[in-house]
Amino acid sequence: METHLTKLLGCRYPVIQTAMGWVADAGLVSATCKAGGFGFLAGAVMTPEEVEQGILQIKSATDQPFGVNFHMYTPGAGEIIDICIRHQVRAVSYSRSPDAASVAKLKAAGIVCIPTVGALKHAVKAVALGADAVVVQGGEGGGHTGKVASTILLPQVVAALDVPVVAAGGFKDGRGLVAALALGAAGIAMGTRFLLTQESPVPLTTKQYYLSTATEQIIVSTKLDGIPQRMIQNQYLKTLEGKSTFGMLLLAIKNGLAFSQLTGGSLFSMLRSAWAMKGSSDLSLGQTMMAANAPMMIQHSMVDGHADQGIMPSGQIAGAIDDLPSVENLMGSIIRESGEVITKLAKVNSENLELD
Ligand SMILES: Cc1cc2nc3c(=O)[nH]c(=O)nc-3n(C[C@H](O)[C@H](O)[C@H](O)COP(=O)(O)O)c2cc1C
Repeated sequence: METHLTKLLGCRYPVIQTAMGWVADAGLVSATCKAGGFGFLAGAVMTPEEVEQGILQIKSATDQPFGVNFHMYTPGAGEIIDICIRHQVRAVSYSRSPDAASVAKLKAAGIVCIPTVGALKHAVKAVALGADAVVVQGGEGGGHTGKVASTILLPQVVAALDVPVVAAGGFKDGRGLVAALALGAAGIAMGTRFLLTQESPVPLTTKQYYLSTATEQIIVSTKLDGIPQRMIQNQYLKTLEGKSTFGMLLLAIKNGLAFSQLTGGSLFSMLRSAWAMKGSSDLSLGQTMMAANAPMMIQHSMVDGHADQGIMPSGQIAGAIDDLPSVENLMGSIIRESGEVITKLAKVNSENLELD
């Protein structure tokens, strides 16, 4: 299945496994790339050394192309860019506060720049800053997310841009892939669906919690870091919802210290980049300081397996998923089903049959 996306990324199928902190590790990325998709390593919660180790691990597992995700505003960003260039990764992804100089440096080294955006105006700005393609995430998507549903946002972005647009938010199967192509996308990008696979490193207890969650329980909250984020409304989130702004800021300082150790910077450099990030966004300083909250609280559920004691970012699609396939089986079924749907649609057209 060839689209502008497969040509740009050098993968067999127009399916991206997105970056998810603590989830999209070298194992998940290499499984995705071997199965014909395109995986992004979640570098935003890693030190530059860990990113390099991850790249080497993926390269030893597969010769297929892959990508790295990171935040351009963090202290280690420059080093991660150099590592991506040195190892000639095929693509990078990023979201908040991209800067034109970093994008230009990556592009000059032949690396595809493909940011994720959640609103039309951010998509236009991302391309003005040099993006080669964009992943556009509808509000049903997991993690930080926008307000507009994929079915409305995607065609708006497709109409506004001249670069390939990839649909994210609410996808899990071949029918979704065909629907996204029909709306003008060059492929789909999925987070939650890849989280719920055999190769995802998330502990089984946490995966089972996702599988047993009803769609209505997957809500958007700004409590964590001031930015709308879609998560499972578990006991921990309910407790956070009851905390005062001051209580959340205290938590942010504690988590900021832990996060700066984790990503190899000092608390001072963390605050400096929070300030820089504030300068290029609509957020208050308090909100940007709280940006460290999310990754630290996610760790409890995603790494330690305490599903009720941490944050669980999730797309609404988790409510419609009830299995844990291997990545190879998942990719196989998506491609098979999309072929069947396309054949059926062609038949409806030529024989005037009704779709069942
Ligand atoms: C557990 C989890 C962690 C995530 N972490 C990140 C991250 O670190 N960086 C990022 O850019 N997006 C992150 N996201 C967003 C995903 O990359 C992706 O855009 C989103 O999951 C797509 O929507 P879907 O879940 O409906 O497939 C995360 C999503 C989930 C579910």
